[in-house]
Amino acid sequence: MQNYDSSDRYLKNLDDGNREIALTTDDLHVAYGTHEAIHGVSLGFERFKITALIGASGSGKSTYLRSLNRMNDNIAGTKVTGKIMYRGLDINGDNIDVYEMRKHIGMVFQQPNPFAKSIYENITFALKRHGEKRKDVLDEAVERTLKQAGLWKQVKDDLHQSALALSGGQQQRLCIARAIAMKPDILLLDEPASVLDPVSTATVEDTLMELKKDYTIIIVTHNMQQAGRISDYTAFFHLGDALEYDETRKIFTRPKIKATEDYVSGHFG
Ligand SMILES: Nc1ncnc2c1ncn2[C@@H]1O[C@H](COP(=O)(O)OP(=O)(O)OP(=O)(O)O)[C@@H](O)[C@H]1O
Ligand SMILES: [Mg+2]
Repeated sequence: MQNYDSSDRYLKNLDDGNREIALTTDDLHVAYGTHEAIHGVSLGFERFKITALIGASGSGKSTYLRSLNRMNDNIAGTKVTGKIMYRGLDINGDNIDVYEMRKHIGMVFQQPNPFAKSIYENITFALKRHGEKRKDVLDEAVERTLKQAGLWKQVKDDLHQSALALSGGQQQRLCIARAIAMKPDILLLDEPASVLDPVSTATVEDTLMELKKDYTIIIVTHNMQQAGRISDYTAFFHLGDALEYDETRKIFTRPKIKATEDYVSGHFG
């Protein structure tokens, strides 16, 4: 835990260089075939904070987020160059056990995607695959993660019912519970509430606010009110670059760059 790169060069817009940084990207480029979608992005994400990635459709938010736990590896023809530093290790390097790394850096997608299995099995699936067989450990993980995801009270008596019988908002909270079952350090979320109704969205937001005590959270959102409500920092993506990165309240009240102001104000309008 001593090896976090806490240099402030990645937080050049922030006031104070003494923040603990959980993850950085250094000149990260991502290309799909000959089309470069990310043009050299250097950002550092502060530990136990929520950072929102905002920007117009096609600006590269999902591409960037996916690269942070090597999900772009799964897309043929994709080339990711530059460093992604996590605990002193370049996780974009060749000798990384990606499967192992994803235990530390988990992901939740836009569309709730529970397995067609019970609530209990959804949460314990990865633990079992990693060899955990002890029932008390599995039971504890189910209770802990469902509590953290704000779903325990609603499902504690139905743990063996199908996850597909849950509402969309409940399914998304189950996916968050599943993602934290491996006790990751960092949680990546790509528009996790965009398909949810306002009430479910609020519950997911409450969940994230609760989780940031224990996790570093990076979230893509199109919803400016949501970014304003839950995030500590915001990075504004524009045409494959992170144009501006600062405390969320500054991005929303005193952005330094006109493109940021146009985007943020347009969406508040
Ligand atoms: N699998 C892919 N193959 C080829 N090009 C892609 C792929 N995914 C994204 N792109 C391209 O990369 C660029 C960035 O797309 P990306 O999905 O990262 O944007 P985004 O900011 O997440 O947009 P949205 O807000 O609509 O989700 C776009 O030009 C897009 O067409
Ligand atoms: Mg996207």
